[in-house]
Amino acid sequence: MPEPLHFILNDKEYETTLPGGTLVLDFLRLHARFCGTKEGCKEGDCGACMVLVGELDGDTIHYKPITSCLMPIGEMHGKHLVTIEGLNQQNLTPVQQAIVDAGGSQCGFCTPGIVVSLTGYLLQRGPSFDDVAVKYALGGNLCRCTGYASLKRACTEVAHRFEHNGDDHTTRSGIDHLRKLIEWQMAPPYFESIPSRLQALAAANPTNGQQIDGPLIAGGTDIYVQRGAQLPNTEVRILGRDSGMKTIEVHEGDIHVGALTTFEEFATHPEIQKCIPGIVSYNLYNASWQIRNRATLGGNIVNASPIGDMTALLLALESELLLQRQGQTRTVAMRDFFKGYKKLDLQSGEILTEIRFAKPDRDTLVHFEKVSKRKTLDIASVNSAIRIRCKAGSIVETALTMGGVAPIPLLMKNTNDFLTGKPVCSETVRGAIAVALSEVSPINDIRGSAEYKTLLVRQLLIAHFSTLFPKQITVREFYETH
Ligand SMILES: Cc1cc2nc3c(=O)[nH]c(=O)nc-3n(C[C@H](O)[C@H](O)[C@H](O)COP(=O)(O)OP(=O)(O)OC[C@H]3O[C@@H](n4cnc5c(N)ncnc54)[C@H](O)[C@@H]3O)c2cc1C
Ligand code: FES
Ligand code: FES
Repeated sequence: MPEPLHFILNDKEYETTLPGGTLVLDFLRLHARFCGTKEGCKEGDCGACMVLVGELDGDTIHYKPITSCLMPIGEMHGKHLVTIEGLNQQNLTPVQQAIVDAGGSQCGFCTPGIVVSLTGYLLQRGPSFDDVAVKYALGGNLCRCTGYASLKRACTEVAHRFEHNGDDHTTRSGIDHLRKLIEWQMAPPYFESIPSRLQALAAANPTNGQQIDGPLIAGGTDIYVQRGAQLPNTEVRILGRDSGMKTIEVHEGDIHVGALTTFEEFATHPEIQKCIPGIVSYNLYNASWQIRNRATLGGNIVNASPIGDMTALLLALESELLLQRQGQTRTVAMRDFFKGYKKLDLQSGEILTEIRFAKPDRDTLVHFEKVSKRKTLDIASVNSAIRIRCKAGSIVETALTMGGVAPIPLLMKNTNDFLTGKPVCSETVRGAIAVALSEVSPINDIRGSAEYKTLLVRQLLIAHFSTLFPKQITVREFYETH
């Protein structure tokens, strides 16, 4: 019998013995009867099911908006789960009032999710609601009725209210930020007591790791889309409840990234931003903020998709993977990990614990490109990353990867060999395109025809080089001669 799960749901302690794989969405609607959390797509796309999850970090608490349709209840142990009912205890919150005033709700189906996401943004990042911030905050929320102009107006109104109240836009974390939000009724008063209540809950119900021999769940954003019908009635092994696997550390020129690091944690980490200066903008094209709050690097690699975005990037960084089973650890180069379509060098029961790569030196540039049918919140038709080291105008070393053009994420060996030792110029890029086209084998599928994907291989190579070396290589010269 698995141990009961203890967490705080809105302002009350909760205990459940439901199977850990039960979706938080189903738990809320069918068991706890908090039906303000809506069921829409059940695939992480629409945001109708959005909840806030608060997690202790020392004395402070961090809240993230997350789609409850892809999150197992087992993940809630020791956390604060907040639904729309938990935000609005008496009057409308200023976020809700601003949406009403701006005409930002019609049928209302999306509205609870939108309020939860915007409140999550205020809790995590404060009210600097310019256009970019609104897109970021609402990247995972679809509204079919009103369009987004009225929601943008509502956000502007919320930002004005902060300014009017004398917010200096400096305090963005910790208890002072939380108190400010409570004072201005953006969050209800009981939020202030949550950190100490969670500490007491953890002391009374310590977790001793899990002995469950069920399917492994990291962020759940892939496996629940694939197996959403079976997993909810089963016990699952929630990797997040085992210790570790979340840190990012620098060790003598190597970066060690825990496999449970989320896309969002990776992209916002100062060390990663130093190594990969474009990481924040690349990340904007990966899923939505809400999915990135759950999607892990380990899950991106182990789901073995040929078009995982972080996989393309980590493969270009020539990462090594640490795999563990029953206390034994082995290391596999990522380039050898993918054996065929959805086939990995991963033994039964093995867990990917860490991803390691060499910190790029100052002569090395890293870049990522992605084309998908929809600009954001979409899986790539083709993606590509490159790590390239140049000295005195020549390419010393390069690792180019392409996704979506073969059964596995492809490290373009022949193209990389071709590029090594060549000068950085458009002639070199033309030669590399010819080699690259001979290395790929795209197929027709819902993300595009083989012909289209072949064209994208060419375009992405040009995009890499013209972005990284704008003085030597321009996009225009390729269009003129094509
Ligand atoms: C709406 C939406 C948009 C998306 N957009 C993108 C996108 O733009 N780009 C992109 O690349 N992906 C995207 N995805 C796919 C998904 O979010 C990513 O692939 C994500 O990285 C999967 O990680 P996870 O932690 O959620 O994996 P999970 O679903 O938890 O696990 C996936 C598989 O890997 C196994 N696994 C996970 N971690 C480990 C581990 N450490 N050791 C051993 N096995 C493990 C699990 O058992 C499971 O079989 C999207 C998904 C959704 C729902
Ligand atoms: S129901 Fe659509 S994202 Fe969860
Ligand atoms: S108001 Fe109807 S979907 Fe947004």
